[in-house]
Amino acid sequence: MHVFVIGGTGHSGPYIISELVAAGHEVTALARSDAAVAAVSALGAKARRGSLEDLDGLKAAAADFDGVIHVAHRQDLLTFGGLDAVAAAERQIMLAYGEALAGSGKALVVSGSIGSPGWENLGRPATEEDPALPGGEAYRGTLRVRNIVETTVIDLAEREVRSSIVRIPPVMHSTTDHAGFLPLLIGLAKEKGVIGYPGDGTNVWPAVHVRDLASLFRLALEKGPAGKYWHGIEGESIRFREIAEAIGSRLGLPAVSIPADVLMLPGYFGFLTNLVTLDLPASNAITRQALGWRPAQPGLLEDLDNGHYFPSVEPA
Ligand SMILES: NC(=O)c1ccc[n+]([C@@H]2O[C@H](COP(=O)([O-])OP(=O)(O)OC[C@H]3O[C@@H](n4cnc5c(N)ncnc54)[C@H](OP(=O)(O)O)[C@@H]3O)[C@@H](O)[C@H]2O)c1
Repeated sequence: MHVFVIGGTGHSGPYIISELVAAGHEVTALARSDAAVAAVSALGAKARRGSLEDLDGLKAAAADFDGVIHVAHRQDLLTFGGLDAVAAAERQIMLAYGEALAGSGKALVVSGSIGSPGWENLGRPATEEDPALPGGEAYRGTLRVRNIVETTVIDLAEREVRSSIVRIPPVMHSTTDHAGFLPLLIGLAKEKGVIGYPGDGTNVWPAVHVRDLASLFRLALEKGPAGKYWHGIEGESIRFREIAEAIGSRLGLPAVSIPADVLMLPGYFGFLTNLVTLDLPASNAITRQALGWRPAQPGLLEDLDNGHYFPSVEPA
């Protein structure tokens, strides 16, 4: 297949390009700068100049390929437009792909999020068959935005697009994770001299190694049916306290409970409170069974133990 990748220069994108190239696919990646052209070329992809702001360009490009993988986002709009502006812009991007691909049966695989407003009340791990639920203002903002984008993609199945969403967990780990939640938590721990966890720390944070995630994107592209959600999470869901203790042990810092009533204070998690208190038990059974996906990379705790997240720290 000749695949168009959008977001090929981020954290997950280079792994996805490499996975596709290794599997024999031809890849063209969107590039909005000379640096991006150089980066994707080094991975064996061709570059197509453009940007997320140019909807006509995205639509024309998408129509030229056998399949589309989208792992980019309009985070830049957050500062001035807020979450609603991000949702509106990303929805328009998905509709542009839809116009390009309608009636073709071609694959469109887009990144989504594990965790949907309303799932808190499921009382069991969420499955791929649990839809993204429409969230109002009362719900956690980021996930509400994701739902709008995700349902737009899933609905394209009705227009004969082989559309699917790969739900990504809060932690995507790898040796090139420089801006995800783990570096953020590690930086916060170093600053505070302790590594905190919310309450009793039993809330669950699923995770995935980005190399495994890349293989899931490839499988969804190659053989995923239309209108499906896939769960890109490694086997065991991990409690937040275990993550905190693993980080603390590498840094030689104590892992401590941050009581619920001080979570929001500037002293510790502050604006991150909504994220660190997420409790997202989820299953990947349907994804494994339907696509034959087999995560094979180190799990989160093993990867933390590998040491690459702590380059300046002597092994404990
Ligand atoms: N754990 C997680 O991090 C997590 C969880 C759930 C969902 N997700 C979602 O999964 C997706 C992939 O995450 P990631 O961490 O791999 O992303 P990332 O590292 O933030 O990369 C973002 C990509 O989007 C591109 N991009 C941003 N604005 C653009 C624009 N205006 N025009 C063209 N390209 C633009 C960037 O290109 P440049 O290199 O040119 O900037 C980069 O390739 C994202 O949509 C993210 O929101 C992530």
